[in-house]
Amino acid sequence: MLKTLHTLLLLCLVGAGNALYKQWIPDNNYENKTNWDKGAVPCGNDRVQFSAQRKVSVFVETTHAVREMRMPVDGEFILNSGAGFYVVAGQEPGCGAGVTTKFKNSESLQWFNPALWQAAATLDDMQRENFLFSVHEESVPCQYDDVVFKARSSFRVDTSSSLPSISVKSVSVLGKTFDSGSEFTQYLSSRSGRLQFHGSSAVTVGNSGCVDPSGCDCGNSVNHQQICASVTCPSLSCKKPLLPVGHCCDVCGAIVTIHYAPGFNLQNYRQRIRHLFLVLPQYKSIQLGMSKVFKSQRLVGIIPFGSSAEIQVVILDEEKGTQAEALARDIVRDANSHGSNLGITEAEFQTSTGSSSDQSGSSAGMVVGVVFGVLIMITLIIVLVVLIRKGVVQMPSMPSLPSLSSFRNNNDTGDLGGPLDHGFDNPMFDKPVMLPAVPGLYGTETNNSISLTPTGVHFVNPVYDENETDFNV
Ligand SMILES: *[C@@H]1O[C@H](CO)[C@@H](O)[C@H](O)[C@H]1NC(C)=O
Repeated sequence: MLKTLHTLLLLCLVGAGNALYKQWIPDNNYENKTNWDKGAVPCGNDRVQFSAQRKVSVFVETTHAVREMRMPVDGEFILNSGAGFYVVAGQEPGCGAGVTTKFKNSESLQWFNPALWQAAATLDDMQRENFLFSVHEESVPCQYDDVVFKARSSFRVDTSSSLPSISVKSVSVLGKTFDSGSEFTQYLSSRSGRLQFHGSSAVTVGNSGCVDPSGCDCGNSVNHQQICASVTCPSLSCKKPLLPVGHCCDVCGAIVTIHYAPGFNLQNYRQRIRHLFLVLPQYKSIQLGMSKVFKSQRLVGIIPFGSSAEIQVVILDEEKGTQAEALARDIVRDANSHGSNLGITEAEFQTSTGSSSDQSGSSAGMVVGVVFGVLIMITLIIVLVVLIRKGVVQMPSMPSLPSLSSFRNNNDTGDLGGPLDHGFDNPMFDKPVMLPAVPGLYGTETNNSISLTPTGVHFVNPVYDENETDFNV
């Protein structure tokens, strides 16, 4: 009872949800120099151009001087308070001779491009840039995630996909969070909404979020092809590259697979691994992603018969991959010693160097196994030989084996090969040979003076004649 209460309290503290915050990286900010084709924010001597046909929503943070500006037909400036434009007469000092600068095209930036998102467990982590690594499918917002577009910025995202809608838990735009479906639909049909979101699929909010403490399936496997279409896989140098579930590319590193029981909490476990291991200096170059995945189960390794949920921990190491293996071993060791408290029933790992937890256990196990195998074989052979010799087990009679039948038939031949020993003879009993063979008990032979019979000891008095023993005179 106390334990249940404790668990409930813990759930309340961490929040039942295991959703992540996914933040869109690009922005359409006037002050971001990556948005300009000359790689610099235009100054007072420059001519600024927005393509006439392009729809664009631009966020302007401060005041800017310009020589000239061409505006798009359908577009907007979202001005921060105090922001604006002015034209300088003459040359602005320190601005050069003046060039024509174009605002870059953000038309092709796709919602399903995993490189355009960053993930964090909390908004606080997001602020501190404590970003989480994820497999490609989960880099893109999952069905229970909170989607964040940076507060002081605008953007344009292409939401085209094969499905009619993309559903998430909530969407934050310009610092306002939408988690009710109708409100967000209204925003999408506003001027800003139409300029920021375009494409065939509608983004919908209001999903309940993940209420399973052990984590939830991201749900992006249906978009796998589209997600991977924008990913270019690097060439790898490791011996046995691994393919994590939900990832588009083979990787060098390690994968830890965790089987969990009720009581497992993904978010707590993620924190535990971070505080126990990822803070250590030797694991500085490590990227670690942890999530619940569904792995298809195969009968005899071939025939699929369903899927099972497990926790996949993907560990990538920028430096060669040796640290990834060390961390995988640390995590499995921790899971083995504290598993019962953490709700972990089993943990195993594979690495791209070819080693795995199965293999490391078997080097000692194999020796023991071989020794036991040999012992069992020897015992079986001995038992079989003894049974055959005792006649308990009958060998099929084969004419070519006459020696065996001679073994069986000579029942008086004991184990030692000699005649069977029947023990010692007690001369007092059961020796009929000792009884006189003659019918007359008292025989004439005087040397038979004492004879032993089963009924008693009789002696013959030599004084009496044999005939006088009858008292019939
Ligand atoms: C400018 O845009 C780039 C690419 O879109 C982005 O990575 C970067 O964070 C932005 N800079 C700022 C200060 O937001």
